[in-house]
Amino acid sequence: MLTLKFLSLAGVTLWVFYVGYVGFRRRESWKFVFKGRVMIGERAKASGNTPFSLPVFGYGERMHIVSTEQHWNDLKGADIAHLSLHSWVKSFIQPQYSLLDQWPDTRDQEGMPIIRAIRTMSSNLPSLRPQLLEIFQHDLDMTIQNSPKSGGFAEMTLMATLEYMMVRINCFFILGIDAANDVKLVKSGIAATKEIAIIGEAVRVMPSILAFLVAKLVKGKNLNQRYVRDTMMRLVNARRAIKRNALKTLSDPATVLEAFVDSSPDEWSTSEIVHHLNILFTTTTLSLGGVATQFLKDLYYHTTFHTQLIDEIQGSQIMPSTSRTKQTSLLEGVLMESMRTHCFQATAVHRTAIRPFTFSDGYTVPAGESVQFYQAGVHFDEKRYSEPETFDPTRFQGGLRSVTDVGMEWPFWGVGKNSCPGRFYFTYAVRLLAAYLLTEFDCKLKSPVLPNFHVGESSIPSEKVVLLVKRKEQKLFE
Ligand code: HEM
Repeated sequence: MLTLKFLSLAGVTLWVFYVGYVGFRRRESWKFVFKGRVMIGERAKASGNTPFSLPVFGYGERMHIVSTEQHWNDLKGADIAHLSLHSWVKSFIQPQYSLLDQWPDTRDQEGMPIIRAIRTMSSNLPSLRPQLLEIFQHDLDMTIQNSPKSGGFAEMTLMATLEYMMVRINCFFILGIDAANDVKLVKSGIAATKEIAIIGEAVRVMPSILAFLVAKLVKGKNLNQRYVRDTMMRLVNARRAIKRNALKTLSDPATVLEAFVDSSPDEWSTSEIVHHLNILFTTTTLSLGGVATQFLKDLYYHTTFHTQLIDEIQGSQIMPSTSRTKQTSLLEGVLMESMRTHCFQATAVHRTAIRPFTFSDGYTVPAGESVQFYQAGVHFDEKRYSEPETFDPTRFQGGLRSVTDVGMEWPFWGVGKNSCPGRFYFTYAVRLLAAYLLTEFDCKLKSPVLPNFHVGESSIPSEKVVLLVKRKEQKLFE
């Protein structure tokens, strides 16, 4: 009995020493978890244009950061099997612990059909407008009905409402309106994505021996993800059956899923198709709510622009943005300033070097480690933006810069072949929501405005931000 007690005590003591030792040895990586954004900013300031690296958990245990146009062009020119976004995402969400299926390390040509499907569905965005508005209207009505009231206003928790709404619009785009109306699917999608994010973060920071245990504790029987996946299997099988039996009369695709099934090779299994859809659904769901919340938070913080915005919205339709014409939309300017000043990640273009990668200035990223571009450096560069800290949505007016641009001057959506194909849909949908809110509702932020919190390099709006909302008596939205 005494021996057992002694052994347990010795075990616990050893464990405490081990954790303490690892914690001390990895103190810079721990610091990054809580202060990564500040650390990147300080090192970038001290290093000028010279690349630098920081110790992190996961991602090959080291993150390299580059910041010049030459580096950008090197990233753009790199083979996607050499500098891999796919492999970086694997390190982020740790699919072997969090997901139901296995991922290969790289993904080249087989990734193209889903990108093409998103492009197909983005080619006529205004046709999605009626159903998007129905989703906004329904969700806002429900939230107002169920929220506490103060002074005639409903207290809408911005993050929770937008998280839900954005997942619905994601379901609508990728899987269709029935999926967007399936409450269990939307809730499971949100829960599964949160589980994946927690598992990814936890697995990176802890010894691998504990990873399976933690993953099991977080996801349980993985019911949330199973429901999402089963729904996708059913929808893919339905479209495949139509494709097999009625190729000549196949209707135009109404969703990314349908466009994807139609253009994917026949020899692919349903599971393979669902695998790609699941990656898409999971990774996009992770960012939609936060970026949308930040946008509305900024919109309702800077109230001086509202009269002009309402005039603009009443005078014209919200159209998908294009960089071929001069920028005239103040609403687009607000979204761009929100993205510029609160870029939710300090860096863009996240890649893992599958084998050593040498930039044209001779800087080498060792195999297995990660590299990224310091986008905050561009966003807050005084030479590019006068008074860069000032939120000024008029600064883009008359210029050729658009919210969906891709390039070093607007790094938000990434680079080259990997740049985000969903940016047209997201920026259209979120501006439509803002226009609807501005014209149909009286809204104000319940002060004080709460600061964002930081995890690693990400800046995330507080879950406690509350928007006070009341329907206007007069309907103004066309
Ligand atoms: C807040 C919304 C979104 C943000 C901030 C965002 C951002 C990004 C970023 C930064 C990348 C990586 C680019 C690179 O590293 O070069 C990316 C890739 C991607 N995005 Fe988005 N995205 C959003 C919404 C969407 C939506 C709604 C979809 C489609 C439904 C989508 C589909 C994709 C796909 C498929 C890729 C991977 C492209 C590839 O691997 O080649 N995104 N996105």
